[in-house]
Amino acid sequence: MKKILVLASGNGTNLQAVIDAIDSGSIKAEICEVISDREDAYALIRARNHGIEGRAIVRTEENREGYFDALLKEMSLKDPDLIVLAGFMKILPDFIINEFRNRIINIHPSLLPCFGGKGLYGMKVHRAVIDSGARVTGCTVHFASNDVDGGPIIEQRTMDIFDTDTAESLAERIHQIEHPALVTSISLVLEDNYRIEGKRVIFKK
Ligand code: GRF
Repeated sequence: MKKILVLASGNGTNLQAVIDAIDSGSIKAEICEVISDREDAYALIRARNHGIEGRAIVRTEENREGYFDALLKEMSLKDPDLIVLAGFMKILPDFIINEFRNRIINIHPSLLPCFGGKGLYGMKVHRAVIDSGARVTGCTVHFASNDVDGGPIIEQRTMDIFDTDTAESLAERIHQIEHPALVTSISLVLEDNYRIEGKRVIFKK
């Protein structure tokens, strides 16, 4: 059975979508652990409610230097086949990305390469989208690379922006398209039926 490690900082609705897809058989894998950088992440409760090990590795003044070493150690323990960043609010350093090259995927709430990169996360993304006057937005699932939000794109889904939309309403509606996008991407990546050419992910027929 393939093993998925999920990293999440918040509510964990994307984690929940993965748990549900495993339960229904549309993802053929198991979640070996959920790691959070916050003790109070609801994602950890979702994990434990489903009998999945959930662990918080929190950055403090004391462990500031060694934080990412400790995170890498924990990430390596279960030897995961795939690592899913499902709303993980820390940027992984190069040495972690390199350790799991093309085995880490991230979900981002915009149509990359627009509205991504350092400083554009969470509600900041949706506010920037609204302020730009764009008429469409969406979500992107991509491989994590050394370039923040710049790795090869696996899947994107789009959504119209209405005149009445706010950053909050976009965030809410985007979650609804994120869940199937993430589930589909995980299945595709686990099938191993693709190759990466530069920034492109090419799926074999
Ligand atoms: C999602 O919008 C995802 O794109 C972003 O963080 C959010 C996580 O939401 N990276 P949730 O915790 O899965 O509900």
